[in-house]
Amino acid sequence: MKNIGVLVSGRGSNLEAIIKNIENGTLQANLGCVISDNKDARALQITRDHGFKAIWLDPGPKKTWLLPEYEETYVKTLKEHNVDLVCLAGFMRIIKKPLLDAFKGRILNIHPALLPSFPGLEVQQKAIEYGVKFSGCTVHFVSEDVDAGAIVTQAVVPVLDDDTPETLAARILKEEHRIYTEAINIVLSGNYKIDGRRVIRI
Ligand code: GRF
Repeated sequence: MKNIGVLVSGRGSNLEAIIKNIENGTLQANLGCVISDNKDARALQITRDHGFKAIWLDPGPKKTWLLPEYEETYVKTLKEHNVDLVCLAGFMRIIKKPLLDAFKGRILNIHPALLPSFPGLEVQQKAIEYGVKFSGCTVHFVSEDVDAGAIVTQAVVPVLDDDTPETLAARILKEEHRIYTEAINIVLSGNYKIDGRRVIRI
């Protein structure tokens, strides 16, 4: 069985879904380690409560990315835990070269919108303001450009007239918890090829 490593910064609901799906056998993977840039992340407590390895790593100066020497410690720790696939689950940093080079084509992210619509932050609010009738979530490979890598899978939810960012986020989150596991299973199985930007099941 392959090992995943999950990078988190906060609440950890996607991580929790991943852990539950590992425990019930829906997700065919081992959880090598969970790493957070935030000491107080609820995600670290969830990890410990389930008996998995939870690690806080100093993120260095306050920036939206990690300086190379700090990102290298993330790489080292993931390698020490024999991680095959890195899964970002609410990790609030832009991924740079040290990680991208060390885990080429082996980093996934989940985003709460239908990319390429609404990359970045506060995307539920943006979707409501724009007036789209459907939104959803996307699991994609991580590349140098933010929220722009090849798409593994997506799920669609309706945007209702009386939605607030919170109600829409909750509807999307339910789908996130389902499709992240699906996407990880696809990627770990190796039963796909990448043709241009297209991830095609084989
Ligand atoms: C999720 O909406 C995810 O799509 C985005 O950040 C949020 C993390 O939530 N990247 P959680 O920490 O998994 O609960």
